[in-house]
Amino acid sequence: MTKLSVNINKIATIRNARGGNNPNILRVAQDCESYGADGITVHPRPDERHIRYADVIDLRPLLKTEFNIEGYPSVPFIDLVLKVKPHQVTLVPDSPEQITSNAGWDTKKHVNFLSEIINELKSAGIRSSIFVDSNIEMLEYAAKTGTDRVELYTEPYASMYPSNPDEAVAPFIQAAQVARQLGLGLNVGHDLSLENLAYLHKNIPWIDEASIGHALVCDALYLGLKTTIEQYKKCLSEP
Ligand code: PXP
Repeated sequence: MTKLSVNINKIATIRNARGGNNPNILRVAQDCESYGADGITVHPRPDERHIRYADVIDLRPLLKTEFNIEGYPSVPFIDLVLKVKPHQVTLVPDSPEQITSNAGWDTKKHVNFLSEIINELKSAGIRSSIFVDSNIEMLEYAAKTGTDRVELYTEPYASMYPSNPDEAVAPFIQAAQVARQLGLGLNVGHDLSLENLAYLHKNIPWIDEASIGHALVCDALYLGLKTTIEQYKKCLSEP
């Protein structure tokens, strides 16, 4: 079964716009779970412009599903995740000022750095995932770090999907096959939507987890959060 992890950063962005506690992200996270989400993802950034470090700490005891924390492995980030001990940490190469992740790691260049971090996570009993492009060499070097999983950066799939679905998905099928041969678990994320998700899943049914934020929150404006989550789950359940 492919799990749906809902990224709630955008909910925090709305909250932060007015400085109060509306919407309450703790309640939204719990509602996502009760509507069928299999996990919650957060991406705390150093400037705390959406999810704050305090939110991450508050969420931990409330969540009943899988908690995934993604971020650049700075010292404060690693301190946070070792304290919170989520089910999974996804390492992304973002610089602090980046609007959103826009590329995977150069796992060849950073193989030693990543290996050290993965070791630390392993010792704490936290599953690790490394954000990578659908590039075979990057997957091979990711495997050398000892990571449990990789998360494929799916923006290139999403942007080509409307004009040429077959061509868009081909490199991702190949990367997913290589990841499987290397013994890596497989997550996917970025720009996935109700339009493109089912086709990705149909072609790569062994995906462990899809992490989705932006499009899901946009859809919820029209469909409501419950129906939206049900529809995303449906995309991931069809063979
Ligand atoms: N995975 C990673 C590593 C991300 O940085 C993000 C965006 O925060 C997502 C998944 C979710 O992407 P989107 O918001 O486009 O669904």
